[in-house]
Amino acid sequence: MTNPAIELDGVTLELGPRRLLDTASFTVNNGEFIGVLGPNGAGKTTLMRALLGLVPNVRGTLRVLGRPVTHGNALIGYMPQGRSISTAHRLSGRNFVTCAVDGHRWGVTLARSRIRRAMDHALAIVDASDLANRPLTELSGGERQRLLLAQCLLGQPQLLLLDEPLISLDPNHQASVVELVRRVQRQLGITVLFSAHELNPLLNAIDRVLYLGNGYAALGTVDEVITPSILSRLYGSPIDVMQLGKRIFVMSGSIEVEKHDHAHEADHQL
Ligand SMILES: Nc1ncnc2c1ncn2[C@@H]1O[C@H](COP(=O)(O)OP(=O)(O)O)[C@@H](O)[C@H]1O
Ligand SMILES: [Mg+2]
Repeated sequence: MTNPAIELDGVTLELGPRRLLDTASFTVNNGEFIGVLGPNGAGKTTLMRALLGLVPNVRGTLRVLGRPVTHGNALIGYMPQGRSISTAHRLSGRNFVTCAVDGHRWGVTLARSRIRRAMDHALAIVDASDLANRPLTELSGGERQRLLLAQCLLGQPQLLLLDEPLISLDPNHQASVVELVRRVQRQLGITVLFSAHELNPLLNAIDRVLYLGNGYAALGTVDEVITPSILSRLYGSPIDVMQLGKRIFVMSGSIEVEKHDHAHEADHQL
């Protein structure tokens, strides 16, 4: 039997005075697509960084793909929050994706032919082989996200951590990025943690949802987790859940909390 992708057993995560996780325990199975949600500051980014071995003083047991976390784990692909492609110059997509090859993981020891093969493979998976020959300036936000995804896939990771890849994309591009990640995740049989402000763009794609808030972590199906009682605990105030057609709204009184909570953030996005 393969190891679970992620296991937390009594994990406490603190940053300064804030306790982001308080003795949290959950298991993400191999090959799951998990939507990571929670109010601004709940610890979505910090959890991903902890899985990468970048957060000191984690208490409890935290395992990735059956092993204790290590810094620079080549089995993990990571797209940090706010990652964007500078379009100030006429770099092609292919050259942009190559930049990652010079990163710490790859060093300079890899033969050029091997790098080229890995690159062609990653670009093909995200359906960007042609795209990659065009200047970045000509690409849409959604097309650039495809190249960022190709970059994450270069090291053939078994676990992908995508931190808010939908930020600053319009709804159509959001939907295509979610579909792409879902297809790639299934095709490669890898595990994905995909954090987002809002649940709705992810609803059709995710296997389960990991909702963080108030030191708690709730992992389960949408029906199990998106309930007034669980979300009220995570938000620390009374929450209602409204379903309208295929969309779900998390409400605090008449305010839609997921939207409200992040409303100012898009403005600050570079
Ligand atoms: N390096 C750090 N030192 C101290 N506090 C931090 C650090 N990084 C983030 N925080 C704080 O930890 C909390 C969780 O942040 P974060 O993980 O970015 O949440 P989310 O991604 O869910 O918005 C926030 O209150 C943030 O201000
Ligand atoms: Mg974050």
